[in-house]
Amino acid sequence: MDMTIKKAVIPVAGLGTRFLPATKAIPKEMLTIVDRPTIQYIVEEVVASNIKEVVLVSASGKSAIENHFDYSFELETFLSQKGKFELLREVRHISRLINIVSVRQKEPLGLGHAVMVTETVVGDEPFVVVLGDDLVDSEVPCVYQMIKVFNRLQESVVAVERVPHSEVNRYGIVEGEEIEKGVFKVRRLIEKPSPNVTRSNLAIIGRYVLRPEIFSSLKRTLPGIGGEIQLTDALDNLRKERSLYAYEFNGRRFDAGDKLGFLKATVTYALEHPDVGAEFANYIKTVASAL
Ligand code: G1P
Repeated sequence: MDMTIKKAVIPVAGLGTRFLPATKAIPKEMLTIVDRPTIQYIVEEVVASNIKEVVLVSASGKSAIENHFDYSFELETFLSQKGKFELLREVRHISRLINIVSVRQKEPLGLGHAVMVTETVVGDEPFVVVLGDDLVDSEVPCVYQMIKVFNRLQESVVAVERVPHSEVNRYGIVEGEEIEKGVFKVRRLIEKPSPNVTRSNLAIIGRYVLRPEIFSSLKRTLPGIGGEIQLTDALDNLRKERSLYAYEFNGRRFDAGDKLGFLKATVTYALEHPDVGAEFANYIKTVASAL
């Protein structure tokens, strides 16, 4: 088995009901934070982690995502005729970021199912899964941090962060022992437990490095909470056969699938933006002082 990580699976089949009405005709992954759609932040993290092959798990109504990363002859010709070279460079940059393969998830049967349908495209090699709702702002890309852990341990790794205990029922929760700073050997995983079921508050955020054995584990996984095939449940099966690790990454995570999380991400990325950051900071100060 080739153990270099070449592919990233990005599930984008979800309907985005948490963001209606904005997502009625536009995929939620195309909602803009400052000047680019959220999916572009995800793809840039993947590319900065040396991955060029992206497997989108898609559904009908999501073609805007593929188009965003595609070459646009019409647009590039127009921009070059008008002499708008700065914009042309930006548009070209996007179309050269990645190669995309799209796989259809024909039924909404859960995250585990979304990963399962990529088996023939991924093949017998480790890969990463990145969820579009979780944006991570960090110096070293979160996926890259995880690949480093994977390369050392050669076993699957999930990214985790501590959440308030009252919120464990929103996440896949990991129980385990810390074997070195920030790395846990996983003993058990539970998808969206009620707070009285676990003492752990280590929540999986949407970054996974998976060995291909996950596919056979997924096939054995029965529908879990919500009647969906849960990736967390498949990982809980996998850890019975192989070691599995959780990694507390360095960085700040935003739940961009949630209205408040999206706003927080917008403010943070705007403050960091080279063009608008300084002026936006002044504006925020004015607004805050009037509160
Ligand atoms: C999914 C996973 C969950 C994980 C979460 C991270 O849940 O099932 O284990 O903690 O992503 O964002 P979802 O947010 O799709 O309900």
